[in-house]
Amino acid sequence: MTGGSPKGERDAGHHGDVRIAPSVLSADFGMLAEQVGEVARAADWLHVDVMDGHFVPNVTIGPPVVASLRRHSSLFFDCHLMMTEPGRYLDDFARAGADGCTVHVEVGDTDELVAQMRGLGLRTGLALNPDTPFEAVEPYLDHVDLVLCMTVFPGFGGQSFIAEVMPKVARVRAAVEAGGLALDIEVDGGIDPETAPVAARAGANVFVAGSAVFGHPQPWEAAEEIRAAIAPTAHTWT
Ligand code: DX5
Ligand code: ZN
Repeated sequence: MTGGSPKGERDAGHHGDVRIAPSVLSADFGMLAEQVGEVARAADWLHVDVMDGHFVPNVTIGPPVVASLRRHSSLFFDCHLMMTEPGRYLDDFARAGADGCTVHVEVGDTDELVAQMRGLGLRTGLALNPDTPFEAVEPYLDHVDLVLCMTVFPGFGGQSFIAEVMPKVARVRAAVEAGGLALDIEVDGGIDPETAPVAARAGANVFVAGSAVFGHPQPWEAAEEIRAAIAPTAHTWT
């Protein structure tokens, strides 16, 4: 049987908890359910990368694949919508079994999209590209569950971690701590056992990893290696 995690069980966890979120982007799409099942025991969330060929120069999967995967996994599905018009599809993702959706602030209509995600009962996230400043998300920090600071330019797996994003992660963390906000700070792109602690020190608590996990001969071990690498540095901001 695939899926079924003693950790996951569609549980988002508490805001601020350390979360390891393997990204299916680097999995074998021909055996996706099996691959997710292999990593489930070490995963807190499953990160699902949705690319529309417009916001990013790549096309991946949509609600039908989320619905299929939902039948094989009880992990929390953290759907990262790299789409120019995510509002047209949020309802479909919610019905397909997405637990959280994250849209990019660069596409605009942020107030409407946040309200739409909230209305659908989705864990609500906003993503920032590496060159999008903190100020773009600042007005929404009170209204969302998660801020995703991209540590690569979105579109492809296997790129190198951009360390220059860390001051922005630290600014989000400082705002969260100053305001006592219930907010997760996620990093995505180039995350592995070497870079995850760097992001953890800056203030991230949700770690997306695609190629480092599914490029490993034993994906769940790779996820545990990232968790172990973070352990000494996580929560050092408090
Ligand atoms: C990139 C995606 C990422 C991707 C990360 O556009 O948003 O989630 O899967 O892949 P790695 O971990 O290989 O950089
Ligand atoms: Zn992603």
